[in-house]
Amino acid sequence: KKLSIIGMPMDLGQMRRGVDMGPSAIRYAGINERLKPLFDNIHDLGDIPIGRPEVVVDKESNLRNLDLVAEKNELLAKKVDEAIQSGSFPLVLGGDHSIAIGTLAGVAKHYKNLGVIWYDAHGDLNTAETSPSGNIHGMPLAASIGLGHPALTDIGGYSPKVKPENIVIIGARSLDEGERALIKETGIKVYTMHEIDRMGMAKVMEETISYFKDKTDGVHLSLDLDGLDPNDAPGVGTPVIGGISYRESHLAMEMLEEAKIITSAEFVEVNPILDDKNKTASIAVGLMGSLFGEKLL
Ligand code: ARG
Ligand code: MN
Ligand code: MN
Ligand code: MN
Repeated sequence: KKLSIIGMPMDLGQMRRGVDMGPSAIRYAGINERLKPLFDNIHDLGDIPIGRPEVVVDKESNLRNLDLVAEKNELLAKKVDEAIQSGSFPLVLGGDHSIAIGTLAGVAKHYKNLGVIWYDAHGDLNTAETSPSGNIHGMPLAASIGLGHPALTDIGGYSPKVKPENIVIIGARSLDEGERALIKETGIKVYTMHEIDRMGMAKVMEETISYFKDKTDGVHLSLDLDGLDPNDAPGVGTPVIGGISYRESHLAMEMLEEAKIITSAEFVEVNPILDDKNKTASIAVGLMGSLFGEKLL
């Protein structure tokens, strides 16, 4: 088993500075040491070069920083594609969630029916037309099903990356009007906090795993740390109260590991400036441990 770690220090998909330091914070929290016993080989490929584009933040557009977000995601897509080609499991460290556009562009071409688990407080299903903020980190899932600006949907030179019926959102508790309409229209499967409370995380994951089992040939985990409750994961730019607990999240990762369905992953929205002594990055690393098979006994 080979792992390729790819840092994507990009914060252009939203307005809060600091999420560009996410990959450093996650490395500082000990990702390499923690995952070392779980793989034969770990290649930390370093960070995708983003430069210092904070000087050009575009405040007006409803697709803020579109050109740079698209350009940098092309670079990420290429790196992820190469990692998969070399037989490695790609693990991408964000960065704001707009980087999922690039990750999925690099991943999806390798599968006929890629499944996606979107572990998030949000749907990230906006387009320029529906977005209340203009922030592209609220748009990557829409882009990946082929909706939105072509500069985003066509990254990697093809579209769509994923079929709506191959998507499961887990942890939703903040959806915009257009996102709700889109979910109803496309039949994307959503476990909101209501279902998690009612059924329990174990049942939610059992259903998710059997939903994917026959119809997908790979499953990408896109884990936004704001899916967790802000008490557990405070270092995020768009926290929403009432989220998934630390324990439920570990259980979810352990069940995914037992089911052996995950073929690529990304952990996004870690913002050490907003964090409490790197707690959120540490939690991310712990969740990766569970996802990759760390066991207590
Ligand atoms: N729905 C809001 C928006 O479009 C918030 C999106 C938050 N996304 C995220 N990846 N944290 O702006
Ligand atoms: Mn390829
Ligand atoms: Mn989110
Ligand atoms: Mn998100």
